[in-house]
Amino acid sequence: MTDPLMKSLAAGYSALVIGASGGIGSAVARQLEIDSNCRKVVPLSRREDGFDVTDEDSVHRAAEALKEEEFDLIMCATGALTIDGVRPEKSIRQISQAVMMAQFAVNAVGPALIIKYFVPLLAKRKRVIFALLSARVGSISDNALGGWISYRSSKAALNQIVKTAAIEVFRSNPSSLIVTVHPGTVSTSLSEPLSSGHARSEPDEAANRILHMLDGLEPGDTGKFYAYDGTSILW
Ligand SMILES: NC(=O)c1ccc[n+]([C@@H]2O[C@H](COP(=O)([O-])OP(=O)(O)OC[C@H]3O[C@@H](n4cnc5c(N)ncnc54)[C@H](OP(=O)(O)O)[C@@H]3O)[C@@H](O)[C@H]2O)c1
Repeated sequence: MTDPLMKSLAAGYSALVIGASGGIGSAVARQLEIDSNCRKVVPLSRREDGFDVTDEDSVHRAAEALKEEEFDLIMCATGALTIDGVRPEKSIRQISQAVMMAQFAVNAVGPALIIKYFVPLLAKRKRVIFALLSARVGSISDNALGGWISYRSSKAALNQIVKTAAIEVFRSNPSSLIVTVHPGTVSTSLSEPLSSGHARSEPDEAANRILHMLDGLEPGDTGKFYAYDGTSILW
């Protein structure tokens, strides 16, 4: 038998991957499926299940359908950089109300709704991990280049949403870890049009590194923003 990937979770743990149709989400689901410690992986996605993070009823219905389940690990891998063919802004002159609202709906409000409806599905009184994919460009401190104002600010909002939720959930379960993760630049359809000249990792390699990093977190690490290699990113 191979060495388990997620050693820190209970034996025979159960996982939910939200956004399992995406480049990183599908790789996370594949990695968990071959983890000898994992009993069950439930995939959820817009493409396969009609699950839309921009529609609160849709998020609510998806959680209701799973209400008999209990998860030790939830990975939210939804998100968008280009929406309806509109690429991220290069200048403040390109700011559009509709585009910015759409970015916030997918990257910030959507994950907040996912937290609202899926936190109750986390196992109680034991180590649980709820990880949501953010992006390093959402770090305000680390912003040296400018540009991409809607995507950056929607991810910064996501980081605050996750930090706030983590504090609340920690009160009822001090073994809970709710964190945002920068996956690195990964070879997916999201990064494809905008990453020329940048090294990109393969999705399975990125997913394996992210899960390995999450496995090593301590309970006090909840509410933080991590890169795939375990370094903590400044807000
Ligand atoms: N790839 C990178 O280099 C990189 C770098 C930094 C951060 N990230 C972050 O990592 C996450 C995953 O990115 P990825 O590269 O795997 O992108 P991807 O391959 O484009 O996957 C995006 C996922 O989000 C889902 N999604 C988008 N809008 C949705 C909506 N309204 N409702 C429900 N699901 C929705 C997609 O669902 P369907 O396909 O089913 O429609 C898909 O499962 C994103 O949050 C992204 O910001 C990625």
